[in-house]
Amino acid sequence: MDQLEVRVPGPTPLPPQVRQALSRPMVSHRSQAFRDLLHGLDLRIRPMLGTQQEVLFLTASGTGGLEAAICNTIEAGDRVLSLSTGYFGERFAGIAARYGAKVDYLRARPGATVDAGAVAARLSTASFRAVLVTHSETSTGVLNPVGEIARVVNEASNRPLLLLDGVSSLGAVPLAMDTLNVDVVVTASQKAWMTPPGLAMVALSDRAWERASGCTSPRYYFDLAAARDSALRGETPWTPGVSLLYGLEAALGLMEAEGFERVTARHLRLAARVREGLVQLGFSLVAAPGFESPTVTAAYLPAGVEAHQLTACLERDFGIQIAGGQADLKGRIIRIGHMGYIGEDNVTNLLRSIESALALIREEVR
Ligand SMILES: Cc1ncc(COP(=O)(O)O)c(C=O)c1O
Repeated sequence: MDQLEVRVPGPTPLPPQVRQALSRPMVSHRSQAFRDLLHGLDLRIRPMLGTQQEVLFLTASGTGGLEAAICNTIEAGDRVLSLSTGYFGERFAGIAARYGAKVDYLRARPGATVDAGAVAARLSTASFRAVLVTHSETSTGVLNPVGEIARVVNEASNRPLLLLDGVSSLGAVPLAMDTLNVDVVVTASQKAWMTPPGLAMVALSDRAWERASGCTSPRYYFDLAAARDSALRGETPWTPGVSLLYGLEAALGLMEAEGFERVTARHLRLAARVREGLVQLGFSLVAAPGFESPTVTAAYLPAGVEAHQLTACLERDFGIQIAGGQADLKGRIIRIGHMGYIGEDNVTNLLRSIESALALIREEVR
């Protein structure tokens, strides 16, 4: 197979325009050309996050963005409430624990989402520095109800900060960061942003910036105040992934040309098609009905087919890469990314290939 079609939940396929932009000649990151690039990216990405705050660009994967969110707002001894709906919720909480936070968990079984009523109840029992939530939980394919969660966090006495992992949602799912009073938002280039891995985008509310100035956790590379000071001059404190920023510029151009509303509608439509197609083929969805992520679908396999058989057959015979499960769901589910550079034809081809792969596997088993 010459070229594989990558349908894992990140990294996602690159549009030709992005691939071309990635090969542009290098420029100095202390030049006017670079300042124009960074400044433009900040202004253009803000509406997609629903914020008027600066968007900072860190040369790091999504986990680096999550670590930056934690080490700028959480310090040893802080009490933190983790709303964990899976593997990535556990990771966010794990970072906070590593910085010495006392983490309380409100966990949901795989496929369920956070219950805002339970969050309100827990917040009324103690005072927390921050609440951590994953928007699209990539390990189970659920979309947590950020609006409802933000409402109960806003109503809590001693209001905690609300930190959102939007790594696999933003760029495909709209967010009203400022209206909802979300305090820290993190996303990453290799998901709906159609850019290779290596850029984390982070935005902070005024309250989060205030907290950052008093937060004593050690940090250097991920010192967001330093990033903001530099960003005011159109720069980054350290040498940035210049090519990735060019790639992102091209990707934003495509998203703007399509229109962000149409981008989000396309994701909803294609996600529904993937789910319907999988159910017709005998899969059952991990996500509870009504809470499915528009960017990633996780599904239990039809009887008699193992996850590793399907992923291997799809790659070998159809040139399509999909993902398996993580942690407790390893070997039990498949996960499909349908975000960024994807259209109707890709979904048709994907579902047909899965159908054929299932037939081949069953044939081999007989
Ligand atoms: C929801 C979520 N959070 C965090 C991460 C971690 O990002 P990275 O692998 O870029 O460090 C991922 C990656 O899949 C993710 O889907």
